[in-house]
Amino acid sequence: MNEKANYRTQRAARQLIESWQRSGVTHLKRVVPVPQQATQPSASHQPVVQQPISQKPVTVVESETVVPTAVMSEPQVKEMNHAVNQGTLLQQIEVSATEVSSSEEVNEIDDPRKEMSVPRTTKSKLTKGDRQAELEIIAEQVSQCQKCPELASTRTQTVFGVGNPRAKIMFIGEAPGADEDKQGEPFVGRAGKLMDKIIEACQIKRSDIYIANILRCRPPGNRNPSDVEAANCRGFLDAQIEIVDPDYIVCWGSVSAKNLLHSEMPIGKMRGRFYEYGRTKVLCTYHPSYLLRNPSAKKDVWEDMIFLFKDMGITLKAQK
Ligand code: URA
Repeated sequence: MNEKANYRTQRAARQLIESWQRSGVTHLKRVVPVPQQATQPSASHQPVVQQPISQKPVTVVESETVVPTAVMSEPQVKEMNHAVNQGTLLQQIEVSATEVSSSEEVNEIDDPRKEMSVPRTTKSKLTKGDRQAELEIIAEQVSQCQKCPELASTRTQTVFGVGNPRAKIMFIGEAPGADEDKQGEPFVGRAGKLMDKIIEACQIKRSDIYIANILRCRPPGNRNPSDVEAANCRGFLDAQIEIVDPDYIVCWGSVSAKNLLHSEMPIGKMRGRFYEYGRTKVLCTYHPSYLLRNPSAKKDVWEDMIFLFKDMGITLKAQK
């Protein structure tokens, strides 16, 4: 890259970081595919015999493209993607992050994570009660949120998240639908009923896990969340992840995977391996709504569940 392009890319990176920080992101996490342990799940519904888990070194691989945000123009996005391909983006972002963190322009007033962004390598020692209390504080902020005027004016209520505040597994969907908007809880409609069946097949209870979405408000007509809406809601999601501090996250569907991991890869290509998000392993699979339209993909999701539980040392029983 010539000097001018390099400057523009750095400026774009700085703007991107500022937008993340405005939405509550205080540090960046790398997307790191974790080398597969043992084998991929079998294509059948048969149980897989658990193999000993070997600890292999983790290789850092940057994501392939950058998701455009409201603050970036198209040429800037192109430059960012070019920088990613050149392997220089993270370097630039790290430089910019240092500059931005000392900038007085960063608005911390409504940063829900300001007390909580301590990177951890082991599960946080917070009690379940402490976590619940912290989640309630964030939920209260969410309920007042007006960052997305359209969503704030059309929602019945915000849909924060539900489940065990100390869960090992966190599910992340896309956004509330009509049923969730009415009831104030994620995944309670048709897709949620199917998710409940998947949870049951994994021999756990809904109350064992924590469930949230990329957005906390229903997009009118169930349209996809915009990049701006996802960025506006990101601080809340990261706060939930940081408080629950799960060992595993399951991204249900491409909107979830794309937004959490800043990846443009199709969901089908993201399946079958773990990505690292902080200390958390992330698995991406098809959204239950997709399964309602494409029942033949249920076996793929079941394979993904086998893969996930196998990593936890649990062999799932075959489905009848
Ligand atoms: N789809 C989602 O992604 N999330 C919900 O909460 C409901 C449906």
